[in-house]
Amino acid sequence: MNRQTAERLFGPELSELESFARSLDLADPLAGFRDRFEIPLGPGGEPLVYLVGNSLGPLPRAARESVGSQLDRWGRSGVGGWFEQPEPWYGVEERWLEPLSRLVGSGRHEVTVMNGLTVNLHLLLASFFRPQELRRKILVESPCFPSDRFAVETQLRWHGLDPDECLIEIGADVGSPAIDEARFELALAEHGDEIAVFLLGGVNFLTGQRFDLERLARATHAAGAVFGVDLAHAVANVPLRLHDWDVDFAVWCHYKYVNGGPGAPGGAFIHDRHLADGRLPRLGGWWGNDPDTRFRMQLEPDYVPRDDAAGWQLSCPSVLAMAPLGPALELIDQAGPDRMREKSIRLTAYLEWLLDRIPDGPVEILTPADPKRRGAQLSLRIGREPAAFQARLQEAGVIGDFREPDVIRLAPAPLFNTYHDMWRAAEGVRNA
Ligand SMILES: Cc1ncc(COP(=O)(O)O)c(C=O)c1O
Repeated sequence: MNRQTAERLFGPELSELESFARSLDLADPLAGFRDRFEIPLGPGGEPLVYLVGNSLGPLPRAARESVGSQLDRWGRSGVGGWFEQPEPWYGVEERWLEPLSRLVGSGRHEVTVMNGLTVNLHLLLASFFRPQELRRKILVESPCFPSDRFAVETQLRWHGLDPDECLIEIGADVGSPAIDEARFELALAEHGDEIAVFLLGGVNFLTGQRFDLERLARATHAAGAVFGVDLAHAVANVPLRLHDWDVDFAVWCHYKYVNGGPGAPGGAFIHDRHLADGRLPRLGGWWGNDPDTRFRMQLEPDYVPRDDAAGWQLSCPSVLAMAPLGPALELIDQAGPDRMREKSIRLTAYLEWLLDRIPDGPVEILTPADPKRRGAQLSLRIGREPAAFQARLQEAGVIGDFREPDVIRLAPAPLFNTYHDMWRAAEGVRNA
């Protein structure tokens, strides 16, 4: 696939001039959303070109008030805050399930907000990784995000299994940074009766490749295995229809494209096919227990899990950590995931086109060129002195992140990045 998407999207007007970038911003229907964020400033007081929304999204302005009002309530009412109207703390984790379920393409009852991503991954593997005789292997992509790899490796050991034998990792063909879905299908066909779980990143953290989750769910189920996905880099980035695609379970974080704040509580999805199956074992806690008996304490000691995704909750919610999530999801809902996706495709294609035009540039783009196979991220392989390159980019006010040994990730996020940011980023790369 050639890299001519931008020429198709922008037509004959497309140009490298700064004025062209400015004209795109003037015509951008989402342009007004940028002002609803605090974009970090550089030493000269100018907003940075913040291309790390795939790591930590910037602060939505409304989050200050949201956190502040919870602190006020805590000071004013103490424990009474749990039930004080309006919007008591009790049930706070359920308040955002509507917009969240729209974002991941699920029923409201199939999603919940709790813990961190890796904790949720362990909790769901506790339910879904039930090794039996021959079927006791886990399949992952390579490279797999380290925390996911640590989770599956330690789950295997937890069950007394040897990761050298039971962890199957599938990477790209030599010479191609992207992994063809057919490679997973082949592995599933070859080892089908041995694989218990296939865990995949919806968008790979390093290359930015987006996977066809519907196709891989089908292949996984044909092999008799369970399909789980890590959506850290996919939520609020690419369209998701978890229910219709028949994904068994999913976990994600809210601090990247959702802009929910550092360490924001994560999300989890469990397909309602499994919710109906009350026999699915799980690790329990009082917040996943039937709310009608939750506070009867010693009077009702039996654990009766809820029959929705919230039935996997353990602890009472982190009210303060959740406070920014409401305003953050509201912004996404107002902008609309479809319009965000459309702008994300255009921003990314424009940046790619500008980067491709840098003569003799030391830049190789690892991310697939086809917009359907990626989200809002371009991963650049920097052939010479990548750390110095990254430092020069930062001096130019362009913030990407460096992943050793030689990859710099730039993520144009549609809610707050501008076309002019793309122009400045390409200038930064050219000069670096
Ligand atoms: C793909 C992926 N998986 C897992 C994690 C770990 O998330 P947490 O620290 O919330 O457990 C991250 C964090 O950036 C990630 O990008």
